[in-house]
Amino acid sequence: MNITADRLLLFGATGDLAQRMLLPSLCALDADGLLEPDLRVVGTARSEMTTAAYRDFARAALEKYLPENRRGGIAQFLDRLSYVPVDATTLGGYEVLAEEVGEYAKGLAIFLSTAPSLFEPTIDGLVHAGLTEGNVRIGLEKPLGTDLASSEEINDAVARAFSEDRIFRIDHYLGKETVQNLLALRFANLLFEPVWNATYIDHVQITVAETVGLESRIGYYDDSGALRDMVQNHMLQLLALVAMEPPTSFDSTAVRDEKVKVLRALRPVAKDETVTGQYRAGAVNGEAVPGYDEELGKDSETETFVALKAHVDNWRWKGVPFYMRTGKRLPERVTEIVVQFRCIPHSIFADRGATTRPNRLVIGIQPEENVQLSMMAKVPGLDREGIRLRQIPLDIAMPDAFSGTVRRIAYERLLLDLIGGDQTLFVRRDEVEAQWEWIDAIRTLWEEEVITPKSYGAGSWGPSAAIALAERDGVSWHDE
Ligand code: BG6
Repeated sequence: MNITADRLLLFGATGDLAQRMLLPSLCALDADGLLEPDLRVVGTARSEMTTAAYRDFARAALEKYLPENRRGGIAQFLDRLSYVPVDATTLGGYEVLAEEVGEYAKGLAIFLSTAPSLFEPTIDGLVHAGLTEGNVRIGLEKPLGTDLASSEEINDAVARAFSEDRIFRIDHYLGKETVQNLLALRFANLLFEPVWNATYIDHVQITVAETVGLESRIGYYDDSGALRDMVQNHMLQLLALVAMEPPTSFDSTAVRDEKVKVLRALRPVAKDETVTGQYRAGAVNGEAVPGYDEELGKDSETETFVALKAHVDNWRWKGVPFYMRTGKRLPERVTEIVVQFRCIPHSIFADRGATTRPNRLVIGIQPEENVQLSMMAKVPGLDREGIRLRQIPLDIAMPDAFSGTVRRIAYERLLLDLIGGDQTLFVRRDEVEAQWEWIDAIRTLWEEEVITPKSYGAGSWGPSAAIALAERDGVSWHDE
């Protein structure tokens, strides 16, 4: 049985993620009575600060990032917080940290959101101070390495102190309600599963489009690029959830066993199945924005856009392409999965002049949370000049279907599961490694074939080659 921890230790407590996501999530959970009364939260980072100063810092972040209607619990939440400055590379600091954490009668949950270079020293420090003993679990925020080898190194270091059942690798997409809803859609309905295969599905599209550019993450992003920043983790997790076999239960082992099989079945991408791009100056949402190189202040070969045609080599998905694309400075912020079904085998309406179009299921993940099934219907009329059919949507907007429920951000769910010890929505080591293996092969291909990013104007849907990648197969990206 998982025991809910009574201590939460946040590394990187003054960082961007802590300010924008972690502190607001914890505060919101607290206000809703979802944190145990005895949970204490200890923040740590390099900055010298007293607990009082940290509480002021946290208050400022909460007032900035929490919506006004969720600020009620700030004072109560701040009372749980304390802060200890630690230089993560010196062992001595961890003793002071252990003192502040004190006895954790039920358990300790650690959240590590620091630079990758600090992972190993932090683990050493935790071991040194006895903070890995007892019911201790650790959450790891990306980036967990930059390729398979560096990811293995980090995983090995963490494994020296924590068994896999105590390691919680975060992919915040798994904390999103609509991503979890994919599992409900597939496995809580009879309707889809019988047709969820190569016999009935023509192709799948996964799009994660962003309007933002580099933001303030110059160093990180230019070393990473879209493939490692978005495809390696979030997009492959989405693909795995779409393509996996039904697990026997909603249990961390059963779900992750099925996801990893998909990730291992990914066929290496061929030269003509990948397109990369980098944005130039343009306009997004009517606003002029500079090009990537201008934002960066130098020339760069880093891709801010990538489109891929992937294949899952197994019985279910033989011959079904999975088109994936993601990019910065695209015309709109949208994450969606499109499942394009095949044409009906025979149309009884053809003789009456009517054409039919194949069904399509669009699962909107953000900003719209909806499920839309396009179906053919007869246009009302007396049909004197033939039957007219038209494609119409069966449209379910999640917020309307579940009005009155609180919209939670991904980290609320993930922090609660980390504190409570449920690993289902966290990524297992074998999954991460299968993801890296596939991604590393793509990067090697780019190097060998000298595939460099093509320019695209900010505010467009990426380089024209990305459109051609799908159109060669008679497929159009779902841009409406
Ligand atoms: C992060 C990436 O993992 O996900 C960012 O590092 C990206 O580059 C972000 O902007 C997107 O997350 P979301 O939840 O806004 O879709």
